[in-house]
Amino acid sequence: MEPATDVPESSGVQRPDWITPATEPLDPAIPVNDYDGFAEEYSAENESSLLNAYIERPAMIALAGDVAGRRILDAGCGSGPLTAALRERGAVVTGIDISAGMLAVARRRLGEDADLRVADVRDPLPFADGEFDDVVASLVLHYLEDWGPTLAEMRRVLRPGGRLIASVNHPFVEWLSEDPRPVYRETTSYTDLWTFNGKSFPLTFWRRPLHAMTDAFTGAGFRLTVISEPQTAPDAPEPFAGISFMCFVAEAPPSPAG
Ligand SMILES: C[S@@+](CC[C@H](N)C(=O)[O-])C[C@H]1O[C@@H](n2cnc3c(N)ncnc32)[C@H](O)[C@@H]1O
Repeated sequence: MEPATDVPESSGVQRPDWITPATEPLDPAIPVNDYDGFAEEYSAENESSLLNAYIERPAMIALAGDVAGRRILDAGCGSGPLTAALRERGAVVTGIDISAGMLAVARRRLGEDADLRVADVRDPLPFADGEFDDVVASLVLHYLEDWGPTLAEMRRVLRPGGRLIASVNHPFVEWLSEDPRPVYRETTSYTDLWTFNGKSFPLTFWRRPLHAMTDAFTGAGFRLTVISEPQTAPDAPEPFAGISFMCFVAEAPPSPAG
C-alpha cells in the first residue's frame, strides 16, 4: 500500500469571508499591497475580528509581558492597535508603517503627540543603534520576500539583549489552502483579494517554511527563545481551534561585556 502523502480535507484552516485567493489575472490599474486604499475598512475589521482581536493581538501582548518603561518600536504598526495596547501598559512606543493612510488612522487613535513615521522596513531604519528595548513586528514580515536586511536592521536598533517579537501567517495555512498546493520547502508568493465595500484589493504575501524563518532569525544573529502557535483567547465570541498564526521571540545577543 502507498503511504499517505496528503492531509485530511478538514485542515483546521479558517479564512475570513472577505479574503479570497486571486485566481484571475490582476487588474494592472489596481496597485498591489495598497493599504492606503482600505486603511479605514481594514482598521475597523482588525479591531474586533476573531483572528486579530482574539488570537494574534492577545498573543503578542502576552509575549511582550511587562513592558512598563520599555522603549518599543512597532514596525508595521498599521492603525496602531498594538501600539495602543503597549502604551496602555506603560511602554514608550514609536510606530512605523509604509502606509501613510494607516498611520493617519493610527494618529487619530493615538493622538497628535504619538511618534509615528512613514518608513519601509525593507530599508535602513531611521533610528540609532540600540535605541529600543523591543521591536514588535505584528503581521508584517510575511509581506517581505527577503527577511535578511530587515532582521539585520531590527537587530541593529535593539539594545544588546533586546527582543524582537514577531507574528506571521502560519506557513501551513497557505500551503494547505492553495490549489495547486505549493512545495512546502520553497518560499513562494501568493496573492489574495481583500474585499471591502464591494471593491477588491490585491495583497501579495510570501509564505516560507518554518526552517526558512528560524534560519533567518539566527542568520541575523538572534537567539530564538519562543516559537508559538497562538490559541484563541477565552473571551472570543466563537470557538476556533484551527491554524492561524505563528509567533516568535528572538533575542539580540547581550554585549560582550554582559
Ligand atoms: C496586516 S497589517 C498589520 C498592522 C498592525 N501591525 C496590526 O497588527 O494591526 C500589515 C501592516 O504592514 C504594513 N506594511 C506592509 N509592508 C510594509 C513594509 N515594507 N514596511 C512597513 N510597513 C509595511 C502595512 O501597511 C500594514 O499596515
